[in-house]
Amino acid sequence: MDIKLIQLLTETWGPSGNEGQIRNLIESEVRPHVDEVRVDPLGNLIAYKRAAPEPARGRKGMNSANAAPPKRIMLSAHMDEIGFVITHVDEKGFARFSNVGGLHTLTLVGNRVLFANGTIGTIQIEKGLRATNEPPGYDQMFIDVGATDKRSSPVKVGDMGALMGALVKLGDRLTGKSLDDRIGCYVVLETLRQLKHSPHDVYAVFSVQEEVGLRGARTAAYSVNPDMGLALDVTLTGDIPEAPFMDVTLGKGAAIKVQDSSAIADPRVRHLMVKRAEDAHIPYQLEVLTAGGTDTAAIQLAREGVPAGCISIPCRYVHSISEIVDMNDVQAAIDLLIAVLSNPIDLP
Ligand code: CO
Ligand code: ZN
Repeated sequence: MDIKLIQLLTETWGPSGNEGQIRNLIESEVRPHVDEVRVDPLGNLIAYKRAAPEPARGRKGMNSANAAPPKRIMLSAHMDEIGFVITHVDEKGFARFSNVGGLHTLTLVGNRVLFANGTIGTIQIEKGLRATNEPPGYDQMFIDVGATDKRSSPVKVGDMGALMGALVKLGDRLTGKSLDDRIGCYVVLETLRQLKHSPHDVYAVFSVQEEVGLRGARTAAYSVNPDMGLALDVTLTGDIPEAPFMDVTLGKGAAIKVQDSSAIADPRVRHLMVKRAEDAHIPYQLEVLTAGGTDTAAIQLAREGVPAGCISIPCRYVHSISEIVDMNDVQAAIDLLIAVLSNPIDLP
């Protein structure tokens, strides 16, 4: 496991719609392992790895003119992260803000925010922390960037920021910000690095604007026009104190999605992944997520419909500055994705 790379991925700036920095990093990591890389008009990074030539696909002796063309498999891991947008700067230089994607205000106070121009601010709440037993609203919070008045403030209306936080290793586990979904990006990068002789044309999409409504995957799925799609993203767990009932546990393997609130995974795709996991003795668990969605939904509804599923990495405290994943689950997700891509895919 390349923890240095995971650290770089999670700590690189890239709130939804502002994915330039993280895209550059991923592009430099992915380029050596694929045949083509392009960026679509919305900003998605699409890396293409051509199917291995016929002999390597185990079809020796067959007239290649009779062989079925390779299938087009789209992977999607979103590279954007949740963040903030400045809505107003007052005369004293305090900046008001709103959310970009799903933030829990309870987790925000005291955290630091980084802006594109390098400005750092701290999120605070009106009247300090006194008498607050309810999550504050955005209208009760502000960002202090150290400015003394509006004119000298280094941030202005429309500037976007993201949480700041270092990745830390906790035994077999990692905690940090934006493991949603930079850990999914890592799974795809690592898979492409290790994948030899896939019989499929693999299109690895590092999508934009997932956190604001699965927007990037929609345009990417249109241009890739896949025969099958797989999203790689985090999912919640049911293993924390008084968590809502959910049958996913950190450390028990890759989660194969059954459904979430945006998509019912194609049962054929789900069964294929379960079979591959069982054949290769890869630990897995089935995921039923009652809230939240992934790029699966956007791929599934592209064009005339695409069989799509999702490999999820179990993650505690999603959308907080201290998300936690287990490296054994990350490894299982990589192993499962490689097993799926290395073998023929024939959906009944
Ligand atoms: Co998310
Ligand atoms: Zn995500």
